[in-house]
Amino acid sequence: MSGHKTFTMLKPDAVENGHIGAILNQITSSGFKISAMKLTQMTQADAEEFYAIHKERPFFGELVEFMTRGPIVAAILEKENAVEDFRALIGATNPEDAAEGTIRKKYAASVGENAVHGSDSDENAEIEAAFHFSGRETF
Ligand code: RTP
Ligand code: MG
Repeated sequence: MSGHKTFTMLKPDAVENGHIGAILNQITSSGFKISAMKLTQMTQADAEEFYAIHKERPFFGELVEFMTRGPIVAAILEKENAVEDFRALIGATNPEDAAEGTIRKKYAASVGENAVHGSDSDENAEIEAAFHFSGRETF
């Protein structure tokens, strides 16, 4: 249903630092229902495709290297106004600018290694969810 779905990844830094449980707890306590979830690792080709919109940016190489260096938790989340509410929950891209209590403020170290991804539109939520999950993996 349009407007009710977003897609997230707990990035390699969050997994490495042992924050999976705490972040998922904050997400579900904030009213998001998990309708698909897995621990997986992106290949270089996966990360280049997923972040293709940033391919001309100076940080693209670093971003791909970071996102492929270890496992991530990928998940589809459902809630009314999911995209906007989830972006508010995770906070600004740079944790230094993120509001107090947001996931990036609490768990991210830098603008590059910022713990969590959130889709930026309903359209991208659909594309990103389909990138990571088949219909049989989605509930
Ligand atoms: P995301 O897509 O991961 O949810 O993050 P976002 O919308 O808040 O930020 P976006 O502009 O889409 O950037 C994607 C990811 O690229 C890395 N980045 N590094 N070194 C830098 O200046 C820089 N800027 C962005 C971050 O991992 C960011 O989340
Ligand atoms: Mg983005």
